Amino acid sequence: MGPGPSDVAPRVLAALSRPTIGHLDPLFVSLMDDIKLLLQYAFQTKNELTLPVSAPGSAGMEACFVNLLSPGDTAIVCQNGVFGGRMRENVERCGATAIMVEDDWGKPVDPEKVERALRDHPEASVLAFVHAETSTGTRSDAATLCKLAREHDALVIMDTVTSLGGIELKVDEWGADAVYSGSQKCLSCVPGISPVTFSPRAVERIQARKHKVQSWFLDMQLVMGYWGGDSKRAYHHTAPVNTLYALHETLVMLEEEGLENAITRHHRNHKALVAGLEAMGLRMAVDEAWRLPQLNSVCIPEGVDDAGVRTRLLRDFDLEIGAGLGALAGKTWRIGLMGHASRERNVILCLNALETALQADHQKVDSGAALQAAADFYASSIS
Ligand SMILES: Cc1ncc(COP(=O)(O)O)c(C=O)c1O
Repeated sequence: MGPGPSDVAPRVLAALSRPTIGHLDPLFVSLMDDIKLLLQYAFQTKNELTLPVSAPGSAGMEACFVNLLSPGDTAIVCQNGVFGGRMRENVERCGATAIMVEDDWGKPVDPEKVERALRDHPEASVLAFVHAETSTGTRSDAATLCKLAREHDALVIMDTVTSLGGIELKVDEWGADAVYSGSQKCLSCVPGISPVTFSPRAVERIQARKHKVQSWFLDMQLVMGYWGGDSKRAYHHTAPVNTLYALHETLVMLEEEGLENAITRHHRNHKALVAGLEAMGLRMAVDEAWRLPQLNSVCIPEGVDDAGVRTRLLRDFDLEIGAGLGALAGKTWRIGLMGHASRERNVILCLNALETALQADHQKVDSGAALQAAADFYASSIS
């Protein structure tokens, strides 16, 4: 129950162990076609250029920046946590200029600041932001940010590593142009794959490039030849065949459950967890309106031994929760309820284990209050 990788379902692990076949085998090519369709469903898009990059979320991030930016370009980058900082790194390594829009860690990206930056920098060709900041557990208003970018004729690069499959994400309706995610969060697949999707506007921008993309491996014009629409596929790299079996299985599971139901499940378990944590006397770090149900940031009370509590959870309960990152190190815990791990039994396990660990740390916690609050919530909400 950390910030990812999340628990992988036995069905997905079983898929991983199927016999490895050739990556140009007609059977594998038809699996690739299925994966594309299932990813289009998960991203809620009709984008033709939708595929899993054969590397982790950071490679999806890099793929978006290196394909959309050229030396001399300007991008507006929003930062309200760790990952906005990585976006800046990507922009600068493309030889472009990053105009930073900064917000406090634990707060959403402020659309007014973004609008001001877009107005002050009409030369900006890209607006980049993180939909779900894993470092803080904060959601930003992606629909509004995309709308602002459109009004100022900028393309949107959006990080959905932690949002895909966990909260509402509507790539086409919102008008996001280059969107990347990761396999190991709310999709609950093994780590190492980054689903990406590019809008027709983004593809036009890529095709009109005058500079070669600096990365051969992530050059979408080349990758398209392997993942492209027709049945003729050219070798580009050897796809991670078994990992893609696993991705396929997780996406089939998502389709079986239904995206809406998966989102509702994440919300319900989050509410129960929060009810329990608050009954224990703990405080959430993010305002209710912007909390991520899949990544719950909890303030560590004064005087509590942060590392000691986490070590006890791991040692005595086999339970991993995340430490705070960057500016929030030592100040928050990050409790993941992602994908397959977003289950009632995990909520109960976590509340029980945390109560025991806090009591062992000599904190005053009412025995049983958290479990009662979570149980009351579950009883009052229809699953
Ligand atoms: C919001 C966000 N972006 C990007 C990444 C990088 O993904 P990866 O670690 O799979 O390279 C992460 C990883 O946790 C993330 O949470």
